[in-house]
Amino acid sequence: MTTILGIETSCDETAAAVVVDGKDVRSNIVASQVDLHRKYGGVVPEIASRAHIERLDAVIEEAFDAAGCSHGHIDAIAVTNRPGLVGALLIGVTAAKTLSWVWGKPLVAVDHIEAHACSPAMGLDQPPWPAVGLIVSGGHTSLFRIDQPTSITLLGATTDDAAGEAFDKVAAILGLSYPGGPEIERIAQNGDPMAVDFPRTMLAPNSLDFSFSGIKTAVLYHVHGQGRTTGGLEKLSPQDIADIAASFQRAVIDVLVRKTMLAICQTGLPTVVLGGGVAANRVLRSALATACSERDLDFHAAKMAYCTDNAAMIAALGYHLLVSGDVAGLDLDAYATGAVPRR
Ligand code: KG4
Ligand code: ZN
Repeated sequence: MTTILGIETSCDETAAAVVVDGKDVRSNIVASQVDLHRKYGGVVPEIASRAHIERLDAVIEEAFDAAGCSHGHIDAIAVTNRPGLVGALLIGVTAAKTLSWVWGKPLVAVDHIEAHACSPAMGLDQPPWPAVGLIVSGGHTSLFRIDQPTSITLLGATTDDAAGEAFDKVAAILGLSYPGGPEIERIAQNGDPMAVDFPRTMLAPNSLDFSFSGIKTAVLYHVHGQGRTTGGLEKLSPQDIADIAASFQRAVIDVLVRKTMLAICQTGLPTVVLGGGVAANRVLRSALATACSERDLDFHAAKMAYCTDNAAMIAALGYHLLVSGDVAGLDLDAYATGAVPRR
């Protein structure tokens, strides 16, 4: 039995978790900072770093309490060290290095996006690998080939905005509150997804890359008028806004599903996994589930609790890295960008 303490501070969630053998989640504590950032309409890096400093000790203690164990029971500490806001990452990395040294436990460095990619495996009896992984979050939109948690290859990624970023920006255009993804999904329930024909940007025919900045601009001009960026919102009824939200959501999901199926065609893999904050979107989950069942593919979406940022996924991937001997030194640093090799 190998028990890992996971620590996650890459953006605006301060999180700690205790996970056994990479899948048995004993505790998963997340202190969200969303209330601190809402009035700014997005994450303010300095506020995020400060809040991590104030909260991390208590969050780690709570993770131990909820798991019914203490630091004497853990075999290693896994921490997110890339990608993310560097100031925010440094708080978790510094805490993890300090605890590693004081408690005499090995330290494991985890890539946040790779952890999202492996999160759909948590709670499954059988690992779903090899699989195509669609990882959609506020900072990233990526397609991976996942052969093992320790063998992940990038197939394609966004060339501009991430899917979650597009949801957040379109929500701001529509006067909805932050974070925009859940708001768009809520409002879209009353809207007609066929009301507005927003562009589906596919890039080159065989490309597995994404682009979401065009659709964001299309929504902006649809709301305010071609070439205009203000003045249009007041003219829209609540039904108009619901229709735009539903049409935008449909267009983004169409692209995500089509590209994932293209990745399946190109790799010949039998399984699709879905993770990241946008994976909490029920319309996306069911669209991808339908596309997979039509093609006899296995499909596993991350459980809701493991879609948005959390430390259980960090501890889970940390376990596989530890077992493979991938241990970090006390000179571990934080990096704004990830390092997943591209095919
Ligand atoms: O993975 P995550 O918690 O943080 C990053 O690593 O970026 O993802 C946060 C993103 C935000 O952009 C948020 O708007 C989006 O996930 N999101 C959603 C939903 N819930 C969260 N997007 C669409 N529909 C949702 N239900
Ligand atoms: Zn994330």
